[in-house]
Amino acid sequence: MTRSKPLTVLGIETSCDETAAAVVRLTGGGASVLSNIIYSQIAEHAPYGGVVPEIAARSHVERIDGIVARALSDAGLTVADLNGVAATAGPGLVGGVMVGLSFGKAIALARGLPLIAVNHLEGHAVSARLTADIAYPFLLLLVSGGHCQLLDVAGVGACTRLGSTIDDAAGEAFDKIGGALGLPYPAGPALERLAQGGDASRYPLPRALVGREGCDFSFSGLKTAAARLAIGATDPVDRRDLAAAAQLAIARQLTERTGRAMSLYAQTHEGRERRLVVAGGVAANSAVRASLHALAAERGFSFDAPPLAFCTDNAAMIALAGAERLALGMIDGLDAVARPRWPLDEKAARLAPTHKAGRKGAKA
Ligand code: KG4
Ligand code: ZN
Repeated sequence: MTRSKPLTVLGIETSCDETAAAVVRLTGGGASVLSNIIYSQIAEHAPYGGVVPEIAARSHVERIDGIVARALSDAGLTVADLNGVAATAGPGLVGGVMVGLSFGKAIALARGLPLIAVNHLEGHAVSARLTADIAYPFLLLLVSGGHCQLLDVAGVGACTRLGSTIDDAAGEAFDKIGGALGLPYPAGPALERLAQGGDASRYPLPRALVGREGCDFSFSGLKTAAARLAIGATDPVDRRDLAAAAQLAIARQLTERTGRAMSLYAQTHEGRERRLVVAGGVAANSAVRASLHALAAERGFSFDAPPLAFCTDNAAMIALAGAERLALGMIDGLDAVARPRWPLDEKAARLAPTHKAGRKGAKA
């Protein structure tokens, strides 16, 4: 894509427990991150073993203006230099989403700037494009604390769901198993450290959906089995080996199901370059990355994962998703609503829901 005029977009992310703002500039040559500010609320939620929505919303309200001001000053810019404002409009904890989206709307209204209401998952989908030149289409494995999906990403805002979890997300499995091992929330990174040098073969864990048609995931059986074993794993070697076994089991399932999605993708994109992108918080896990990288090499796919800072929630990915939409004229009105649920592939979510629809429609 060649574009003569660069687009500079402010991104705002408040859908979970990070208050984040960033400025990204998109030119014909790709994206550059001019600033990327993240305030993590982890310490505020840690005593409760998970994110408390009311605490999160209040904390976003208290910090959003300072975080946005820092994102602009770090970039050496003022609001007058912006071409648009992108804010996460869902899915996520709706109290928090409303804080960031309302703040974004206020700037857009006051300065006459276009607003882009970004799907948080679309942010993760483009996150690898922040630092690498990855052309559309690509196969995306999106693995975070709340989501676990395989998507065929054809272009800006054009995703087809190939598979999704039928129960827990992979990050949730890491967090719950880690929690059972006494690790602080969010336990994924701590479980990865604990697993180092462990013997993954000592604890046999159930392997869900092996050989099952399709590309869906299931982690609840593994989660329960590992959490039960954790009760008896009291000495350091047991804990290390159980952490290693759980990590391997999660990585194996992600790899096996991604292999199936690659076959589907190769059929629908015959003759085209094959790319695998993995994004979301769990993409920070090196065992998961290594396993997927090996699969990609074996199957003739290129492999990309964002740098660690862009795997977990951040506003740079929201700014980029917004800038890509803005470049195509895909902007939103100031009446854009905060959506607790917002599937990327709305058609698939409606026709073949993996979760029972809630009052507000399909979850993921
Ligand atoms: O994308 P993210 O920051 O937030 C959501 O949108 O959910 O993902 C957070 C998730 C948490 O479940 C966290 O435990 C997991 O990503 N995570 C990891 C690692 N780093 C973050 N899981 C395993 N290994 C890691 N190194
Ligand atoms: Zn996320």
